[in-house]
Amino acid sequence: MNKMNKPCCGGNPEETFSPKSTAEIKQEVKQRYDIFAKEGGSAEGCCPLVGKGTESFALEHGLYSQEDLALIPKLAINLSRGCGNPTSFANLQPGEVVADFGSGGGIDLVLAAHKVGPAGKVIGIDFAPNMSKRSKEVMEEAGLFDRTEFILLDIENPKVPDDIADVVISNCVINLCPCKPCVYKQIYEILKPGGRLAISDIVIIGEVDPKIREYFQSIWSGCTGGAIPEDEYFKIVEEAGFRQVKVVARHILGPKELEEMASCPGKKFSPAFSKEKLAQFQGKIVSTKFVAVKPKE
Ligand SMILES: C[S@@+](CC[C@H](N)C(=O)[O-])C[C@H]1O[C@@H](n2cnc3c(N)ncnc32)[C@H](O)[C@@H]1O
Repeated sequence: MNKMNKPCCGGNPEETFSPKSTAEIKQEVKQRYDIFAKEGGSAEGCCPLVGKGTESFALEHGLYSQEDLALIPKLAINLSRGCGNPTSFANLQPGEVVADFGSGGGIDLVLAAHKVGPAGKVIGIDFAPNMSKRSKEVMEEAGLFDRTEFILLDIENPKVPDDIADVVISNCVINLCPCKPCVYKQIYEILKPGGRLAISDIVIIGEVDPKIREYFQSIWSGCTGGAIPEDEYFKIVEEAGFRQVKVVARHILGPKELEEMASCPGKKFSPAFSKEKLAQFQGKIVSTKFVAVKPKE
């Protein structure tokens, strides 16, 4: 079988492990999230940080509050695969234009659209056709379709429009992108001068055996395989031109969270590793939430 035609789902990653090309990784990520969206997602969350916060806990930790969840259609909750809530720390204002990089089923589009109000606009960018289709259904159901634009696009691709957004948000997406500098370049391009970003993503802290990282990369779509060391990550953000990079919340994934996150968007799509392999990553996978600014000049 041609490597590119490998089935999308199932299989034990420890048996089928082989390093993947960038094209294979992107194809796999797109295919898995697309099928997940076509099936309507799952009530069984793989990203346990969603929906657990009380109001003050949520604000302090960059998570969804009960008040947020009450605004979101069930379809968007079932499709949600984030690792935080960037709308809780993006300081969104009425009338602003917000672009969501890897908007998935639209959970953050809904919250952002409420915050920017009828004078503002939200732009959902995703490369999985069924995710884009589902997010349209979600925005329609939420009554927010008229303030939303949808762009079916690879966020690593230099085709995003220039200087149109006040804010870029992204939730657990950039870890999935093989070329992180490419994504931050596109975020920089789409932002107006003086614009800002609010990102929730997954990074690695401390030493991890390179062999174990290679194994994890065999399930890249699980949101841990493509994670890179935190200092490397923030160097990329600064090299793209962003300033005032500030971490607003940080959470080291516990054992259950790590197991679930490594199987995103679900075990059927990204089968879990053995407990022994996961243990070698324990305490080293972090959900980080941060903001930064594109300088005016
Ligand atoms: C883990 S899900 C998160 C979705 C959403 N942000 C949320 O919080 O529920 C990752 C999403 O990013 C999209 N994605 C991954 N890589 C992408 C790329 N290179 N270009 C555009 N979308 C991408 C996937 O299709 C999927 O919808």
